[in-house]
Amino acid sequence: MAEKSIVVLISGSGSNLQAIIDAIESGQINGRISAVLSNKADAFGLERAAKAGIPQIVISHKDFADREAFDGAMIEAIDQHQPDLIVLAGFMRILTPGFVRHYQGRMFNIHPSLLPKYKGLNTHQRALEAGDSQHGCTVHFVTEELDGGPLAVQAPIPVLPNDTADSLQQRVHQCEHKIYPLAVELFCNGRLAHTSGQVQLDNNTLPPEGYQFTQE
Ligand code: GRF
Repeated sequence: MAEKSIVVLISGSGSNLQAIIDAIESGQINGRISAVLSNKADAFGLERAAKAGIPQIVISHKDFADREAFDGAMIEAIDQHQPDLIVLAGFMRILTPGFVRHYQGRMFNIHPSLLPKYKGLNTHQRALEAGDSQHGCTVHFVTEELDGGPLAVQAPIPVLPNDTADSLQQRVHQCEHKIYPLAVELFCNGRLAHTSGQVQLDNNTLPPEGYQFTQE
């Protein structure tokens, strides 16, 4: 199967971007990152891209009158790389329905909760306040509903008695760095797909919670 072209969108640190770069370099992922796009010129993830020899694109949302114009400029820049997959990795802008539809079935996001629980922000604090015994992270296909697309890979972790929002966040982040490369690997091998509203892994429809990743 031909190597897939991946474009990664970031706004910040890009530690998930780094995990994907590392997984490509180790041969886990049969793909290449054709470009990293950031809406912030000072995002640390751009330095990670530069170090890995990946072309960087900066498009500031502040230079555009509205979301449609910003998203249109992003589509124009992204499509020059003929991407098979768009990876949202800490990209902190809400996308327009037109942008989402354009990449339907080939755009992932990662979210720091066991979706559908805790869409939006402050997920670790919310899980603690609810007294949950489990928390985690989820890779999902992006649809027009924010954090609401069908789930691809999910990793539950236990909430420990002394956990704080910070300690939980750190352990969830470590999990993200495992399941994001895994989801990208499976997509690039043609094993994971979102077609007709369902997520398929090896031609079997996944349950609503997606493929459950468990640590040994
Ligand atoms: C992660 O916590 C991810 O779940 C959320 O944004 C954060 C990105 O972190 N969508 P990083 O920039 O990859 O380090």
